[in-house]
Amino acid sequence: MIKIGIIGVGTVGEAVVKNLKKNKEIIKARAGKEIKVVKGVVRDLNKKRDINIPLTTDYKEVTQDPEIDIVVELMGGVESAYKVVKDALIHKKAVVTANKALLAYHRFELQKLASTPFGYEASVAGGIPIIKALRDGLSANDIIEIKGIINGTCNYILSEMKKGRDYQEVLKEAQKLGYAEANPTFDVGGYDAAHKLLILASIAYNIDAKPEDILIEGIENINLMDIEFAKEFGYEIKLLGIAKKIDNKIELRVHPTLIKKEEMIAKVDGVMNAVSVIGDTVGETMYYGPGAGGDATASAVISDIIEIARGIKAPMLGFKLPLNKNYKLKEIDEIESKYYLRIATKDKVGVLNKITNVLAKHNISIETFLQKPKDNFAKLLFSTHKCKEKEIKKAIKEIEAFDFVLKPINYIRIEE
Ligand SMILES: NC(=O)c1ccc[n+]([C@@H]2O[C@H](COP(=O)([O-])OP(=O)(O)OC[C@H]3O[C@@H](n4cnc5c(N)ncnc54)[C@H](OP(=O)(O)O)[C@@H]3O)[C@@H](O)[C@H]2O)c1
Repeated sequence: MIKIGIIGVGTVGEAVVKNLKKNKEIIKARAGKEIKVVKGVVRDLNKKRDINIPLTTDYKEVTQDPEIDIVVELMGGVESAYKVVKDALIHKKAVVTANKALLAYHRFELQKLASTPFGYEASVAGGIPIIKALRDGLSANDIIEIKGIINGTCNYILSEMKKGRDYQEVLKEAQKLGYAEANPTFDVGGYDAAHKLLILASIAYNIDAKPEDILIEGIENINLMDIEFAKEFGYEIKLLGIAKKIDNKIELRVHPTLIKKEEMIAKVDGVMNAVSVIGDTVGETMYYGPGAGGDATASAVISDIIEIARGIKAPMLGFKLPLNKNYKLKEIDEIESKYYLRIATKDKVGVLNKITNVLAKHNISIETFLQKPKDNFAKLLFSTHKCKEKEIKKAIKEIEAFDFVLKPINYIRIEE
């Protein structure tokens, strides 16, 4: 028998307990052993709960219990969870976690500490087995690119906006439906997706980067005019997490992205998640499914528990030896992309000329141009050929300084 203790018995923790019970026989047959939850840790012992396991408020009763084999961390947070997980590892417990924020900051320290198995399948894209796909199924490949819709809230909002609905209205609805938190910044600002991207990038490239090191932009400034532009030129707008290897540089970025509507990932709508991985040997593979929710996340948590019960110990981030390549994170300024720009200007003669001159000065050439009259302002919509992040940022700053331009200029990167 394998005995587990669960630290955090909320949405995911409760679903883990219930699904272990519901599929008890199947799980026992697959794991080769019975799996029993022997203790749970919560903050509030008086809260009404749907499950019946012994509860405590002292995490050490789990991390330091000699009877317990696996500690499942489902409490969330960064530093408090780090303390708990470290204590579990020091006491030679196997660990399973769904905590992407913890891993975004501490995955390499935890890997060093972990002499026992460490599972985190649920930390990226909820129920989609993307960690095992990358770490095990695709382990023969040099990973060329990962592109993921890994935040369901943003994908829901952008999908609804395609129907002509306003951002604020859809955000409120997403909060009502429980897709978005009361404070949605973490999701709509791109930070949640960035945490997940960093985890995937570590498995693909063994690269240790923190959220502060990479380009993160959210969907807050997308409006219906952008959606219209996208439609007119055959694009979809998606919040993507992108990891790319170019020579020995690894590009990591999260931002709203215009992608051709024929791409597989462009067809993923609503709260669903999807990740496309291109390996040099296999080509493009695609993973799709529910990225959140108690049961979907529990499915991933339990798969880690079963793997540990089977006696499998894969290296946590997928490398048994250091990767013999000097991968470095690409500086944000050096990232190259095509851009779409939305510029609101006073309707005056010579405006367009002045703007295109600034773009030309920074070697930015225009691919498409569209003008939309709106109230007293003209909306100029451009798409550019590839240029460096630092050039477009300089050009935008100069254009924003014109007295006929309404600040801020909005832009979206285009991936083709
Ligand atoms: N929900 C999802 O769809 C989803 C999907 C993927 C990953 N995750 C990750 O899974 C983890 C758990 O998420 P959740 O949605 O289940 O959260 P939740 O519903 O808020 O549950 C958190 C649980 O942890 C307990 N807890 C929090 N801080 C604690 C502390 N300091 N000491 C002891 N217990 C503490 C809470 O106790 P009380 O019950 O007493 O308040 C609660 O039982 C997070 O890392 C989250 O990012 C969630």
